[in-house]
Amino acid sequence: MMTFAFALPGLADELEINLGTLATEAELHSRSISIFPGGRGLPPGSGGVGEGAELYRARCRTCHGETGSEGPASRLSGSDGWMSFSDPLRIVRIQKNPLLVMSVGAQWPYATSIFDYVRRAMPHTAPKSLTNDEVYALTAYILYLNELVSEDAILTKENLPGVEMPGRARTVDVWQEE
Ligand code: HEC
Repeated sequence: MMTFAFALPGLADELEINLGTLATEAELHSRSISIFPGGRGLPPGSGGVGEGAELYRARCRTCHGETGSEGPASRLSGSDGWMSFSDPLRIVRIQKNPLLVMSVGAQWPYATSIFDYVRRAMPHTAPKSLTNDEVYALTAYILYLNELVSEDAILTKENLPGVEMPGRARTVDVWQEE
């Protein structure tokens, strides 16, 4: 515990600020939940499209729509990267190119980022509430909605990094490591 003492005119003579203790390297490592593009950081576990579909209906559909593309929240599916002017979510188009779809399936270059994002941020009202198996299952279902894995796919830390995303060809790779 660190203690700092300040002398502030007009305020209490001594102000104690508890900054806690510094984390060790090992503690930092064990608390890190970042997943790198090539799969570093992926936890053990597995999940399939079927379980993912059920979880999606219960915990994601109200915000992301029946098939992941109806909204009202961000589009998860729509893999060709293009859409028409009548698209209900056209408000989220990239401004410079009014026809490019903002969809996870169309734009994200790495399938591993879906795992990272869903685990840390979704569902929006209860982030970090999903188990690793549930996140694998939801990742599988999102990839299935984008026709990037088959209906019977079961994802693990071994095979998730191998899923090829169409967005990879549309992005510049700045990662020096996997
Ligand atoms: C209460 C509404 C809500 C629920 C429920 C919800 N989401 Fe989201 N989701 C959002 C919003 C809002 C965003 C955009 C967040 C942002 O950009 O900061 C988002 C973003 C995302 C993204 C990133 C999209 C992008 O293009 O950046 C993914 C992937 C995602 N959600 C997956 C899920 C999954 C899987 C579930 C179910 C476990 C889920 N969401 C449940 C509201 C929701």
